[in-house]
This record gives sequence, structure tokens and C-alpha cells, in this order.
Amino acid sequence: MYNRQQRYGKVFKSFVLGRFTVFMTGREASKILLTGKDGIVSLNLFYTGQQVLGPTSLLQTNGDAHKRLRRLIAEPLSIDGLKKYFHFINTQAMQTLDHWQGRKVLVLEEASTFTLKVIGHMIMSLDPTSEEQEKFRSNFKVISSSFSSMPIKLPGTAFHRGIKARDRMYEMLDSIIARRRSGQEFQQDFLESLIMKHSKGGKEDDDENKLTDKQLKDNVLTLLVAGHDTTTAALTWLIKFLEENPHVLEQLRDEHKQIVENRKIGTDLTWSEVNNMPYTTKVISETLRRATILPWYSRKASQDFEVDGYRIKKGWSVNLDVVSIHHDPEVFPDPERFDPSRFDEPLRPFSFLGFGSGPRMCPGMNLAKIEICVFIHHLVTRYKWKPLDRDNSVQPTLVRMPKNKYPVMVEPL
Ligand code: HEM
Repeated sequence: MYNRQQRYGKVFKSFVLGRFTVFMTGREASKILLTGKDGIVSLNLFYTGQQVLGPTSLLQTNGDAHKRLRRLIAEPLSIDGLKKYFHFINTQAMQTLDHWQGRKVLVLEEASTFTLKVIGHMIMSLDPTSEEQEKFRSNFKVISSSFSSMPIKLPGTAFHRGIKARDRMYEMLDSIIARRRSGQEFQQDFLESLIMKHSKGGKEDDDENKLTDKQLKDNVLTLLVAGHDTTTAALTWLIKFLEENPHVLEQLRDEHKQIVENRKIGTDLTWSEVNNMPYTTKVISETLRRATILPWYSRKASQDFEVDGYRIKKGWSVNLDVVSIHHDPEVFPDPERFDPSRFDEPLRPFSFLGFGSGPRMCPGMNLAKIEICVFIHHLVTRYKWKPLDRDNSVQPTLVRMPKNKYPVMVEPL
């Protein structure tokens, strides 16, 4: 990407798998693609993703249907909506960290288990120690690894295994939905609010705007897929960057020690403390800039249009290269350096896109930030850690993660 940008400039075109594919960078391109004004682009979900997530997923809808689905998930994922899950997130973070002491841990694996328990609880009140949670975890892992596979639906392929695991996950959701509808089970979670307020099969069955069970399941799976690997990767990179930048770790630890000191003895982390961690928030942003977990955002041109004097034709795949936006030396001097103070002042719009921007901006950003803040609070107030392998390779999957899963040795402070 870098070589071609040097040769051809901010916009260049390639012929990839039988289709014109355009790559772009810069604020101008970000603005046009991410705001998608006048419906000039739609989200371009790759074929494997389309097959696994199903046709009614938020990631495959556009226009009014997309806006409607966004409204349904906005409330439970808002700061107010998340408050009721705080206690669970806090307990899970502490329990995960309880068994880190004096041990070798694979940070990526641990972060993955933690974030999956949180999302499983939030969406459908899964008990983290139950057999159902274990089934959920193993099916989810297969689905997740099928995402970077070729879409060949033959027994034995990763894609085939992914579709089968998705079907098992849907069976599990069907049985939970049936238990809820029959009144055998009642929970105050995301699924309950969708079933009670927004699904067909409820009291106001004739409402056109209500979701069918298929739509409901496609979108529950979409939230799981979009939210799990991303948060896991962000948490892992952050822990790695902290160790590599001791002065940042020191400043971050000071913020968290201060929170503990200001608290009455014997009390635990509170909701208002989590929402007031200014330095940690900058460390999260710098992590998302430096690691650029999702390296490009992909769209499909719905009509002809022009960017930076370059004509894009309807139907072309148009990709925003976020890595180069996040490493633009004019906005981020010495871009490889990890420096949270870059976020001391607000940046110009479209120069930092950690959670995207515009109508498709990440709806799960508040949840991700809360999970990371809670976990980091307990980690830095209890432990220090040393990596057991300094390999910096990145896993060649959609979501960029450390290939070695970041093995560390953990000691009490
Ligand atoms: C640190 C963690 C996360 C990062 C870095 C992240 C990043 C992003 C980005 C960059 C986009 C926009 C992509 C584009 O414009 O093409 C996005 C969209 C999305 N994210 Fe996240 N995300 C994170 C966590 C979450 C969580 C926890 C959830 C849900 C529980 C979630 C759900 C979604 C969904 C559903 C979309 C698609 C929105 C739409 O198309 O309207 N994400 N995310």
C-alpha cells in the first residue's frame, strides 16, 4: 500500500479478484467515504462475512433499514444503558486477573475470554460458568476463525465449519428466545428488550417495523462478531504498549493509584470513577491509532463520484487505508512513537478514526472503553508484567492482533 501511494498518490486503483478496487487515503477521502453523503457508497462486506452473518445483518443494510437497526441498538449500548452491566464487568475483570499472579499468561487468550463473558452476559445473560457459556464460546471461536477463510462450502473447510457453528449458535438463540416468550425465563438484557419491544411474535405482531426472529439472530451475531475480536485486540495491544513505554505506564498507574487513594477503604471501583479516567482514555485512543486494529474500511460505490480529482465508477470497491491516515507525520509527528499526549488537544475531524466516523461509526465504543478501563484499572494496581517473547508480527486476520498472543510473566506489584 505504502509503495503504491508513493508511486501513484493518495488514490490508486487495482484489479483484485476480478473487480476494480480503489484504495484511498487522506482526510478528504475519509470525509466522502465515511459520511457517505447522498448515499454515494454502501458498506462492502466481503463474501464470507455476508454468508456467515446473514442478509439482514446491520452490516448488510443501508439507508432507512440501517438507521432503524442502529436506533434499536443505540439505547442498550449508550452510557446510561451500560450502567447496569458495570458490576458484572468489574467482577469478571477481577476474577480473570485473580489467577494471573506469578503465572505465565497469553494476554490475548485471557482478554478474549473476558470480553466474551461480558458480551454473552450483556446480550443474553449467559452465566459465565455454565455449560451454555462453554458451547457459546466454542461455537463463537469457530465462527470467528471462518471469517478470514475462502468461501468454499465443502466439509472440512474453515468456511463450512463456520456456517455449521453459526447454525448451532442460532439453535441456541432459538431455544433462549422460546424460553423467554413462554415466560419460563425473564432477564433484563439486550435480547429481552429486543424480544419484548422490537420483535414480531410479541403483542403488537402486525407492526411492519418489528424484527423477525431471523433479523434478530443475524443482528445479535453481528454485535458479537463486530465487538469481540476488536475489543480483545485493543486490550492486548494496550497492555503490550504499556510495557514497551514505561513512562506512559507510570503516568497511567498514577491515575489509577489516585483513584484508589481517594476512595474509602474497603470500597470497590465505581461507575463514576470509570467514567473519569482522562489519561487512560488518551492511552486507549493512542493504542487505536498506533495499532489500527481495523486497517481499512471498505465501501461499494452506489453511483459515480469524484475524489481528489479521480473518477470512481458505480459498483467499484472503494477502501479507505486507515493505517496511513493514523501514521500521517503531519498530524502525528514521529508516528511510530507511542505518545498519548497527542490527544491532549482535539484533533481535526477525520484525522483519527479509531472507531470510524459518520453513520457507520462504531455503536459499541462505549462498551469497549468501559471494558478496557475496568480491566486496566485492576491490572495496573495489582501487577507488573514482562513479555516472554518480543516478536512483533501481526496475525494476518481481519482484525490486527499480535501473532504470538503476547505471552507475559506476571508478578504482584
Ligand atoms: C476497541 C474496540 C472496537 C473498535 C476498535 C471498533 C471499531 C469499529 C470501527 C472502526 C467501525 C466502523 C467501520 C467502518 O466504518 O467500516 C465499527 C463498526 C461497528 N462496530 Fe465496532 N469497534 C469496537 C468495539 C465494538 C463493540 C464492543 C461492539 C458491539 C458490542 C461493536 C459493534 C460494531 C458494529 C455493529 C459496527 C457496524 C456499525 C454499522 O455498520 O452501522 N464494536 N467498529
